[in-house]
Amino acid sequence: MIGSLLVDHIGELVTNDGRGGDPLGVRRDAALLIEDGKVAWVGPARYAPAADRRIDADGAAVLPGFVDSHAHLVFAGDRAAEFAARMAGEPYTGGGIRTTVGATRAASDDDLRATVRRLRAEMLRQGTTTVEIKSGYGLSVAEEARSLRIAAEFTEDTTFLGAHVVPAEYADRPDDYVGLVCGPMLAAAAPYARWIDVFCERGAFDADHARAILACGQAAGLGVRLHANQLGPGPGVQLGVELGAASVDHCTHLTDADIDALAGSTTVEWLSGPPTNTVATLLPGAEFSTRSPYPDARRLLDAGVTVALATDCNPGSSYTSSMPFCVALAVREMRMTPAEAVWAATAGGAAALRRTDVGRLTPGARADLMILDAPTHLHLAYRPGVPLIRQVLHNGVPR
Ligand code: NIG
Ligand code: FE
Repeated sequence: MIGSLLVDHIGELVTNDGRGGDPLGVRRDAALLIEDGKVAWVGPARYAPAADRRIDADGAAVLPGFVDSHAHLVFAGDRAAEFAARMAGEPYTGGGIRTTVGATRAASDDDLRATVRRLRAEMLRQGTTTVEIKSGYGLSVAEEARSLRIAAEFTEDTTFLGAHVVPAEYADRPDDYVGLVCGPMLAAAAPYARWIDVFCERGAFDADHARAILACGQAAGLGVRLHANQLGPGPGVQLGVELGAASVDHCTHLTDADIDALAGSTTVEWLSGPPTNTVATLLPGAEFSTRSPYPDARRLLDAGVTVALATDCNPGSSYTSSMPFCVALAVREMRMTPAEAVWAATAGGAAALRRTDVGRLTPGARADLMILDAPTHLHLAYRPGVPLIRQVLHNGVPR
């Protein structure tokens, strides 16, 4: 029995409670009581109840833990040389995915597990308390099942991405590969997966293949999300909305019709149940690391689209595990305000995973939070690159 824990003397508490005009639901001079790993009470510090233990935040800002809703953590090897070549002028094509597939297939379970554990620990130190983890570097029945089995040791939000690219051995018969993904691979993956994802892009999977694969996944009980409109305009975003995807991710190249489709997807009902609209998840680490133009979040926000931010942590296009870095990029390069970026990295990520138990600090939510070495959330973007996460609590337990 851990007992109750009071986090006291919070200068600025970001609750994301959705009440009033302030999306961050900021409370000043607040305290927060934790019982059984959950938020039990939030209120003015002067009314703070007694508790078994106490953490003095000493006037600092306290935020919900980051919800990183898009990460590829099950892989082996790295592609630093490919990054260097890009910085010398080479374009990013996604072709390097097959390099990582080769390294991943050659790795032992323990090697893969150690990599996930290392990246998960990096994330936690930087305030991430919920992470989605995709397969997609195995691309055979046994390898995709193995990747998901390992991912499931670390998160509830596991995603089957057998349709990442067509592996070399199927290069001249992509239809057969789609059949494999929809048949035996899905059957082997589904027991370990909550979601299904497709890389819908020129050079990967077209709209017909993506629709077929996502429909099979839905029929197997998996929720839909997809990689869409990353390298150029394409059908992915509108396909995602049509299928009721929880999220379409990247959204770097959007037409007005794409934005209208996202804005027209059903509205988030934060306080009365899980969100049911399609979130646009932006991944600025990928634009940073592929030296591509950033998506314009302002266009999406002004249209009323729900926006999330995530790292896309992977060895090719975005080898960062840092949500603070993504928040800073979003503010500086994507026309988001600091408040919008912090909301997108917490509540937005939760919406993208259709979760109401994380991404907010309201009674009943999981006690996942970070205490900053800063007085307000603004400092995450104002002081980029500075380790501002003083302490992280996950399920109410200091890490
Ligand atoms: O989200 N775009 C497809 N998948 C990853 C990149 C994977 C890789 O380059 O290894 C992404 O950017
Ligand atoms: Fe990705």
